[in-house]
Amino acid sequence: MRLKNKVAIVTGAANGIGLAIAAAFVQEGAVVVLADIDEQKLMQEVKSLTTNGTTLRGVQCDVGNTVDVKNLIQTTITEFGKIDILVNNAAVAIGGNIMEMPETDWDTLMNINLKSVYRTIKETLPYMIKQKSGSVINISSTQAFRSWHNWTAYAGAKGAMLSMTNQLAGQFGENNVRFNSISPGAIITPMNVKRAETEGTAFLEKSAAQHAMNRLGTPLEVAMTAVFLASDEAGFITGEDIKVDGGLCTLPRYTE
Ligand SMILES: NC(=O)c1ccc[n+]([C@@H]2O[C@H](COP(=O)([O-])OP(=O)(O)OC[C@H]3O[C@@H](n4cnc5c(N)ncnc54)[C@H](O)[C@@H]3O)[C@@H](O)[C@H]2O)c1
Repeated sequence: MRLKNKVAIVTGAANGIGLAIAAAFVQEGAVVVLADIDEQKLMQEVKSLTTNGTTLRGVQCDVGNTVDVKNLIQTTITEFGKIDILVNNAAVAIGGNIMEMPETDWDTLMNINLKSVYRTIKETLPYMIKQKSGSVINISSTQAFRSWHNWTAYAGAKGAMLSMTNQLAGQFGENNVRFNSISPGAIITPMNVKRAETEGTAFLEKSAAQHAMNRLGTPLEVAMTAVFLASDEAGFITGEDIKVDGGLCTLPRYTE
């Protein structure tokens, strides 16, 4: 019960890493508001996570839309009175060679993966400052550190998230609001399953082979790092990025 009495918002919580984070937070005793654009899957997951003694809500929210984000924050405040933890997890995987990528794809990706972080933090921070505590966790990616053909836009948004995390950690540390990020390696989630359907499974096998641990990660492994960063155990940790990447960045596996 490391998150007992804490109120958490997790975006992109209907699938994959976001769902695993929401489930782990519930397990640790938090009140969790799950937000996702996919209302049907969201409500299905809220139902399956609900047991005796748990408090959770599903709020349909497109993080690319300011009105939706304002509604998410206001609903949380109205129902639960505070926000202790904000996890910016929602994102889309749109690839493309920069010479061919349509500007509309670039703008869509930046709006959902990056501007969303501005929106949620802008709306949440005043409450965290007022209550003199808060933990914001931004889900970045090892693609912010490593080159990968045709993922310039995605990697650019993830790198910008890391810079935002540092800036905000420096500015609001004295308010006891902590900003950290997690950079996962390749994790088996619907995002990667969808890519495998369109691109074939070879990229997953090649990707696994680059990790020192020679495997893909699980959503739970990312979720337990989020539990730690959200908890009071991490009370003196801010401005940090924790890679949950099986050694991908620091100990890439030698392959012939
Ligand atoms: N899976 C990986 O290998 C991997 C690696 C590094 C980083 N990440 C990051 O982890 C996070 C979660 O990835 P995942 O693999 O679980 O993705 P996923 O596609 O499996 O799940 C993403 C969720 O976000 C929701 N979503 C998409 N657009 C949204 C919007 N506009 N508003 C609200 N919700 C929206 C989707 O409906 C979905 O439920 C993302 O930020 C991703 O970039 C994933």
